[in-house]
Amino acid sequence: MTVPQRWPLPAMAFGGDWNPDQWPREVWQHDITLMQQLGVNLLSLPVFAWPQLEPSEGEYRTDWLAEILDALDAAGIGVALATGTATPPAWLVRAHPEMLPVRADGVRLDFGSRQSYCPSSPVFRDRVAALTTMLATRFGDHPALRLWHVSNEYGDHISRCWCEVCAASFRRWLLRRHGSLAGINAAWGTKVWGQVYTDVEQIEVPRVTPGPDNPARLLDFERFCSDNVLELFRLELDILAELTPGVPRTTNFMGLFHDLDYWRFAAVEDLVSNDAYPDPGNAASHTDIALSYGLMRSLKSLPWLLIESAPSAVSWRPVNVPKAPGQLRAHALQAVAHGSDGAMFFQWRAARTGPERFHSAVLGHRGEASRSFAEASQLAADLATLAPVVGSRVRSSVAMVVDWDTIWALRPDASLPAEISWHAEAYQQHAALHQLGLAVDSVALPDSDLSRYSVVVAPTLYVTSDAQAEALEAFVRAGGTLVVGPFSGVVNECEQVHAGGPPGPLRELLGVEVDEQWPLLETGEQIVEFDSGARTVGRFWAEWIEPSDDVEVVAHYDGRPLHDLPAITCRRLGKGAAYYVSAGLPLDALTPWLHQVCAEAGVDVRMSANPWVEVVTRTDGATDYVFVINHAPTPAEARGPADADVLLAPDGDPPVRRTSGLSITLPPFGVAVLRMPSTTPSLHHVHSIEV
Ligand code: GLA
Repeated sequence: MTVPQRWPLPAMAFGGDWNPDQWPREVWQHDITLMQQLGVNLLSLPVFAWPQLEPSEGEYRTDWLAEILDALDAAGIGVALATGTATPPAWLVRAHPEMLPVRADGVRLDFGSRQSYCPSSPVFRDRVAALTTMLATRFGDHPALRLWHVSNEYGDHISRCWCEVCAASFRRWLLRRHGSLAGINAAWGTKVWGQVYTDVEQIEVPRVTPGPDNPARLLDFERFCSDNVLELFRLELDILAELTPGVPRTTNFMGLFHDLDYWRFAAVEDLVSNDAYPDPGNAASHTDIALSYGLMRSLKSLPWLLIESAPSAVSWRPVNVPKAPGQLRAHALQAVAHGSDGAMFFQWRAARTGPERFHSAVLGHRGEASRSFAEASQLAADLATLAPVVGSRVRSSVAMVVDWDTIWALRPDASLPAEISWHAEAYQQHAALHQLGLAVDSVALPDSDLSRYSVVVAPTLYVTSDAQAEALEAFVRAGGTLVVGPFSGVVNECEQVHAGGPPGPLRELLGVEVDEQWPLLETGEQIVEFDSGARTVGRFWAEWIEPSDDVEVVAHYDGRPLHDLPAITCRRLGKGAAYYVSAGLPLDALTPWLHQVCAEAGVDVRMSANPWVEVVTRTDGATDYVFVINHAPTPAEARGPADADVLLAPDGDPPVRRTSGLSITLPPFGVAVLRMPSTTPSLHHVHSIEV
């Protein structure tokens, strides 16, 4: 049997989750015929079919799956074969109720939904290994197999469990991390509030306590939980690598998901895939989702795959707004613009039963008559046209530090000066950069190569290690521009405030010392005045800063409580510059200021006249593919170089070529893709650098 090349596909991936096991056999061939009609080339299945694959312990039934895979292969459709381990079957859970997860308040969650397992459970892990081994042995050389889709959305419902098995694993994890009981006591600073442990067995997972918990214990628990799920992931990955070495392995991520450190997850898999559900009811969702797409393409510095998205409404928000006509295409092509080599949906055929019966599907409840089927058909044709884009990279000159230690440590219950969320700060900084037409990559400190970027931003780097500070300093000395947000350099990896106070190891680099954090009440305001004379009302956060002599004050506080103290500083170091922003700036002040900073750093940036039109460039080094996406429900105009080739024309009026340039009218949610040699300057608000 000749096995075709598994991955990458020669074209953009198009398809989605298909659950034929939930449908009678008559539906299978009908669906496959429709898929062929649309040009589907990749399906994820069978994601939740453990009971059908193993109806009782060790009794495997795979003939139905073999029949489906053969039929798909005959139809030329590839499969991201799910290992089916995301939801253990009832027979397993009832035989081993101890494998059910336990909440922090001690309640054991019952069977009746999905992911009803404790990630540490030995019996669950054994059965996962057995099922994965069986599937890899049975189907590892099937010609339809393109990818392994391991489990499903790890942590979506359960990433943390507070049971005794997890407590024992936590203790072992702590001993590995800190070396000894004395190391744990020292790292956690347990002498405060009389928390000293005299035997490691006294250490528990952080359940509900009478008062505030030890922040270092909480942070270590977050790390442990992420590593614990990672161990579960690796269990399957290792089996698959051994039995099917040529088949790439992925698991579907969930954007900027709080619970799991995706840098560590991506490092052990072959392909980054992601599920994205921007809310059509939220006008800003295209901006926020772009930040997570930047993370996806950066995790392995490779193209990634949008493996799940909604054709229209989801079913898990309080109000599930459908996508407007054209929005399916705009959302899917936005992901492609940001580096996805395809667009896939949850799911192919809408479920009539279960909690997701009101979730949209390519085939909604009206089947081929559904609006989403028509819109997906158009997308399929577009993706076919975009085949040359496969494998190309996104141009980006700006990166954001994404660091799970800081994300986890800034918990609302971590006894901080005030609530400050990494996500809120990150979305705010990103919104400003997005408005400047910039596609923002992500970087991990200290490991990522920062030298690719002109500007690196850190919304807040609350947890800062010496190694991270060194990486940032090397970047600045070599000519980079760094923008660090408030409450940075505050604690080390053990949640201990750096000696001498913030910004700790960033002190030299930023040239400031923070005397006190000065959070503002919800009703509080603190005027910030820039050296240009522009004034803005800072909210929620301010700091009392003492700058060193060689630091420029870019903006200062005006009026009480921090009158005349610096609000934003700049330290020139080597060939670069390091800015510290201590204030909570509103978007309308942050955007023009970052515009100036980026421009000074040599980034080709212009305030977009129309914030609803997103321009993102992919390049293979020889050719640039410029995606122009209108995210608004109203038409928009864009202009490109006269000699640009239109690879994908928007619906409606064709682009008009004049000597002054190419005029493009984008209908509501319309998308155009231009193609030009990599050296050609692109649209007036395309800003790109070499990849
Ligand atoms: C995620 C899950 C799917 C489905 C969708 C619904 O992507 O992986 O199984 O529940 O959400 O939006």
